[in-house]
Amino acid sequence: MVKLFVTDKDGREVEVDARPGFSLMENIRTLPSSVEAICGGMCACATCHVLIDPGWLDRLPPRSFEEQVMLQDLAAFDADRSRLSCQIVVSSSYEGLKLTVGSDEY
Ligand code: FES
Repeated sequence: MVKLFVTDKDGREVEVDARPGFSLMENIRTLPSSVEAICGGMCACATCHVLIDPGWLDRLPPRSFEEQVMLQDLAAFDADRSRLSCQIVVSSSYEGLKLTVGSDEY
């Protein structure tokens, strides 16, 4: 398991024991106040928006073009920190990753 620190929509920090090989979205969507992920991880909805802690930005793979397109029109889009949690696969190198559930409003 990989320990993640997730700040949910209500501002609570929750520790998550994440399963490597599954996306961030799959690992956090069952939290009580988390991402909705209504497209199920198809990079087609942006309801899995999260904001990555600044200290982790250079340790994640870059956004794909498709991910960028889905994110950039969100009202809460952050050019540095915004990611679609369904597009990031958890690995052991993400031990301690901090992220915040983001708004999916346009
Ligand atoms: S779950 Fe829809 S874009 Fe990630």
